Amino acid sequence: MTCRLDAAATPTPPPSGGVPLPTALAWIDDDLAALRAAGLERPHRVRAGRQGREVELNGETLLNFGANDYLGYAGDVRLTKAASKAACAEGFGAGASPLVSGHSQAHELLERALANLLAVDAALAFPSGFAANTATIAALMGPDDFVASDARNHASIIDGCRLSRGRVGIYPHRDMAALDSLLSQAVSTRRRLIVTDTVFSMDGTVAPLADLCELARKHQAILMVDEAHATGVFGPRGSGLVEEAGCADGVHVRVGTLSKALAAAGGFVAGHAEMIHWLRHTARAWIFSTAHPPAVAAAATRSIALLAEEPHRRLELRTRAADFRQALLQAGLTITGDQTQDSTQIVPIVVGAATAAVDVATRLAESGFFVPAIRPPSVPAGRSLVRVSLSWHHTATDLERLATTIASILRDQPDR
Ligand SMILES: Cc1ncc(COP(=O)(O)O)c(C=O)c1O
Repeated sequence: MTCRLDAAATPTPPPSGGVPLPTALAWIDDDLAALRAAGLERPHRVRAGRQGREVELNGETLLNFGANDYLGYAGDVRLTKAASKAACAEGFGAGASPLVSGHSQAHELLERALANLLAVDAALAFPSGFAANTATIAALMGPDDFVASDARNHASIIDGCRLSRGRVGIYPHRDMAALDSLLSQAVSTRRRLIVTDTVFSMDGTVAPLADLCELARKHQAILMVDEAHATGVFGPRGSGLVEEAGCADGVHVRVGTLSKALAAAGGFVAGHAEMIHWLRHTARAWIFSTAHPPAVAAAATRSIALLAEEPHRRLELRTRAADFRQALLQAGLTITGDQTQDSTQIVPIVVGAATAAVDVATRLAESGFFVPAIRPPSVPAGRSLVRVSLSWHHTATDLERLATTIASILRDQPDR
């Protein structure tokens, strides 16, 4: 199936012609100038066509190491067909929040497929993974409670902690002794929650799940994990790191996204049926936001079926991730502990200064690779990086070429 959107058919907005910002918004000019000076201005990129091994960005075709399309389903026609069939059956817009009438048959089938994949009682689909995290944490916790959160957790977890209005303790990345100590100081709080990514999105590291389960038991805390980057990639059935670590019994709340390996959109929370039913009464982003389109839910359901039909994709991806790290070492790169410990499909190359990360990303693009620069606030200041996202589509030659190109660019970097 080849088709392109007709860009010429859409009118372009009139140019602002250099009209200054209204006085009430004039501060934005200064703020933008400060971002620019710190190397933190973000590019405006337009992607065209289907992405896969390659991606067209602003008219330029590059090898695609910048999408979370880990299993290569983002451009898969089987998902398009599933979405078209559902759009034909149920129309495009969901029309209302799931609580009112937005929960269609396509959403019901998706939630059943998710519960089956994760081997739990029930699941609840959200418009995004971001919404799933913020709504769930804020629903579970309140001002009398204590939340312990890993320092490298995703922004949606951070915002969920803030929304809960509970006391929040941040423990250093994967530091179980620090977490133990934080929880010991929170014995008198009404409830305690430990919340963590399972695969950390900017570090490619994995959470020590067995230890986390142990601490949750010891301190009678709720354990909530975000499997956004693990769903579809880890576990014998592809349900995530909880399955791979064999610790489903110790994890109370499992959040994930349908937008990365599953290549659709939306998020989910899964667990005990009573908890899910209770979230239907308390999770504000589920109650007060329109359900995502049934076609999107159907595409996600098709992806979940593909996890069972094509287990080789996740196995091959994991092998390539290990090979790529090996190739980086062979190309003479010093890789920090973070990058060698865990063979996840996310390989960050820490560069240091934000401007240096942009420079490396620009030079990679000149060599034909799309590898985005990741800068504050996504990572701490001084820890900017280029983030290599591996996909099932990449060949061994792609990975070898990328490793040698990165190594040769970094040799010229004064900051490293
Ligand atoms: C760890 C993590 N959790 C949640 C999300 C949000 O998921 P979504 O893109 O579906 O909103 C992301 C997305 O970047 C993520 O990396």
